[in-house]
Amino acid sequence: MSARDAQPKAIQLKDYRPPEYLIDRTELHFDLGADKTRVTSTLTLRRNPDVTPTGKGLTLHGQEIELVSVSIDGRTLSDNDYRLDDETLTLPEAPEQFELTTVGDIDPKNNTSLEGLYRSRTMYCTQCEAEGFRKITWYLDRPDVMSEFFTTVVADEKQFPVLLSNGNLIEQGSADNGRHFATWHDPHKKPAYLFALVAGNLEHIEDTFTTMSGRDVTLKIFVEAKDLDKCGHAMTSLKNAMRWDEEQYGREYDLDIFMIVAVDDFNMGAMENKGLNIFNTACVLAKPETTTDAGFQRVEGVVAHEYFHNWSGNRVTCRDWFQLSLKEGFTVYRDATFSADMGSPTFKRVEDVSMLRTLQFAEDAGPMAHPVRPDSYIEISNFYTLTIYEKGNEVVRMLANLLGPELFRKGTDLYFERHDGQAVTTEDFVAALEAVSGRDLTQFKRWYDQAGTPKLTVTDRWDEDAGEYHLTIAQTCPPTPGQPEKQPFHIPVAMGLLGSAGSLPLKIKGQAPNPETDDNTHTVLELTEAEHTFVFEQLPEKPVPSLLRGFSAPVKLYYGYSRDDLMRLMSGDSDGFCRWDASQQLAIEVIEDVMVAYQKGEDLSGITIDGRLIEANRLLLQDDSLDKAMVALMLSLPSEAYLGEQQDEIQVEAIHHSRAAVKRALAEALKPELTQIYRAYDHGKPYRPTADDIAERSLKNAALSYLMTLNEPEMIEACEQQYRQANNMTDAIAAVGELVNSQASGAETVREQVLADFYQTWKDEPLVVDQWLRVQATSSRSNTLDVVHELEQHPAFEPNNPNKIRALVGAFTNANPINFHRADGAGYRFLGDQILRLNSVNPQIAARLVTPFTRWKRYPKAQQELMHAELERIKAEPKLSKDVYEVVSKSLV
Ligand code: ARG
Ligand code: ZN
Repeated sequence: MSARDAQPKAIQLKDYRPPEYLIDRTELHFDLGADKTRVTSTLTLRRNPDVTPTGKGLTLHGQEIELVSVSIDGRTLSDNDYRLDDETLTLPEAPEQFELTTVGDIDPKNNTSLEGLYRSRTMYCTQCEAEGFRKITWYLDRPDVMSEFFTTVVADEKQFPVLLSNGNLIEQGSADNGRHFATWHDPHKKPAYLFALVAGNLEHIEDTFTTMSGRDVTLKIFVEAKDLDKCGHAMTSLKNAMRWDEEQYGREYDLDIFMIVAVDDFNMGAMENKGLNIFNTACVLAKPETTTDAGFQRVEGVVAHEYFHNWSGNRVTCRDWFQLSLKEGFTVYRDATFSADMGSPTFKRVEDVSMLRTLQFAEDAGPMAHPVRPDSYIEISNFYTLTIYEKGNEVVRMLANLLGPELFRKGTDLYFERHDGQAVTTEDFVAALEAVSGRDLTQFKRWYDQAGTPKLTVTDRWDEDAGEYHLTIAQTCPPTPGQPEKQPFHIPVAMGLLGSAGSLPLKIKGQAPNPETDDNTHTVLELTEAEHTFVFEQLPEKPVPSLLRGFSAPVKLYYGYSRDDLMRLMSGDSDGFCRWDASQQLAIEVIEDVMVAYQKGEDLSGITIDGRLIEANRLLLQDDSLDKAMVALMLSLPSEAYLGEQQDEIQVEAIHHSRAAVKRALAEALKPELTQIYRAYDHGKPYRPTADDIAERSLKNAALSYLMTLNEPEMIEACEQQYRQANNMTDAIAAVGELVNSQASGAETVREQVLADFYQTWKDEPLVVDQWLRVQATSSRSNTLDVVHELEQHPAFEPNNPNKIRALVGAFTNANPINFHRADGAGYRFLGDQILRLNSVNPQIAARLVTPFTRWKRYPKAQQELMHAELERIKAEPKLSKDVYEVVSKSLV
């Protein structure tokens, strides 16, 4: 085949038709042979009574399966009774109602796409969402076809003592030739994307959970024997999540057993298969010596996320894949509120908003921009995006805040009750919230249909004589692919007003306070038009507005704050998010001052910066009454990526060097305070992953990071000591990171020793090796690309393992701007080579790696041309996967 004779076609939402056939019962038999796996599937099919027949018979999906036989009601079909191609099996004469048996052979050992049934190290496992089930057997592989599953697995007893599938174990025993079998039955009808199978030599930990109605549920986490000591945190998180879902949403678990299996080779974080979640080891294993605080938090969040899907995704599922955010946006909202409840709410919110504003906003402004409910795609795997997940979360959060907690709970109760056992749409979700609240959410639904990040421009006027403050907010939204014009969004703007001594009382002209959301000093302005003016009356002084509290809507907000205003917000606002945001805004402005000097060719080494940033940070560091989590967050400078987002054209070098200069200037000015924080920390303290301890470590390591910019021998020594004495990975890797980044000549030897020691200590722990790769790949030192090339050849780098690819290639290309965007284009070429290598091995991973190239238009001309050339080089590959083709071709438009 020549390059793209047949270009992959886009699937359109408007073409959705309900299925012509339904599958009442699915019986699967897996024979896991030494070489191939034979899958026998018996489906009980009948026509869908609600659909008028098209007369085209029955077409099933199926890919990469070798057909052995097809029979209908026990009668074997001959070749001319069916049609078979690369993607389908068609039975033109399918009866109204029948039993279809297909036998096919698949080759899991050579399945490197990690979709369908595949091998990960010594075990077999599956990943079926979105369309992987069709690589296992012929099926109606679409989420609106729901069936009861019976699954029998037969395999060698010694090699694969554990045989698992969805639901309850109903039978097990021995088979011929040293083999054994297990039969599982899942009583809940489900779409094929929730199917799972695992066979392996696994150990497990076990616990029980008593549900609110008093049923005992067995909980098991399966891992390789060496990882048994890393399951405790996931188990605790699971039980917390089960309780929380009962308390917050009234949702109870519905099987007698809930299982989690950890696998090393996994494209994503984890998967919510009914009763048998399959996890990337990175999202389930945790112990203090090997796992950072962020890792602990990720495990808690992902375990909860997948568990919550049991209701938001499994019991109520998606009609089609355009509705993906129905389950993902809602479930991220559920896990984010859970994590906030378990830890520090402001910390969690700031983390989520930072990611959204840095990465989702970039996606929304680029060639892959799509609405929360897209209307077309070429490859659905490319739509597991920040927009579907994170912006989807923000949309649900806005709905929850608009309704208030009681009505929102009533609404979700109604949604679950109305649609239990159904495959539904985002419309259905919003309709349930409308029904309980009596609110008209028609305009709000534009958040689902229109892509792009709305921009709010805020202006104000103070009328001293009348004591009135006029606040005008205008909204616009830039064009996105296929959507040149946008209609105004329904935008909730949570806000308050600040006077010289704190919050001011709010009285809005012509508007009664809303008891759901307002108190005397806080209100939510609901924007529905292109422009609104609100008049606040009876004010004693000109206020500073505190806007978008808690980040009440996923928008960009522009208001001309003075630096003094920002300082007032930083120290005086009642909203933690706004205080943090003001600190970031002030830092951005000061860094931008230095960028101007950099562009003029000035020497940045001894540069003076705006003293207000220094003073604001000094106040933070000296105030013992402040929450340490807040201090750590406010002290951290905005990332280079976020700074880039603020620029019309991203000047990578200017951003990098100016940010570093500001960091150094702050370190010089605040050296006593920072040293005091660093020295006061008790490094011998036993590790606990609690919110307070995490905040304390994060503040102490932020202090270390500042102090290390001074290149002083004592700090390099302290850093080495921190590495050697650490009783936890958070402190160890923080120290390694500082040494890896240090420009000090005295750091060279220590760096080499520490990196070698680290690898020697942890070479048998893949997840720690990932951190070792990542920390080196993200070094800002100028030889990093050479180091990355060397690491690619290192035995620790497994070229087809997604975690290793993310740790080395992903980290270098996404989190190391100064080296990735090298002027000679060597960083781009490295990425282009990796994408082409992985295109045939693992298309999903290859397509994800393209992301940095999708942003090519945001950079200066020379870089644009180099990135564009890489995209063209990839596009010219004759056997481009659909996944890579979609991202590359859309980027080149
Ligand atoms: N549903 C999984 C989750 O909870 C993600 C599955 C992603 N699969 C994929 N092929 N992209 O988020
Ligand atoms: Zn999910």
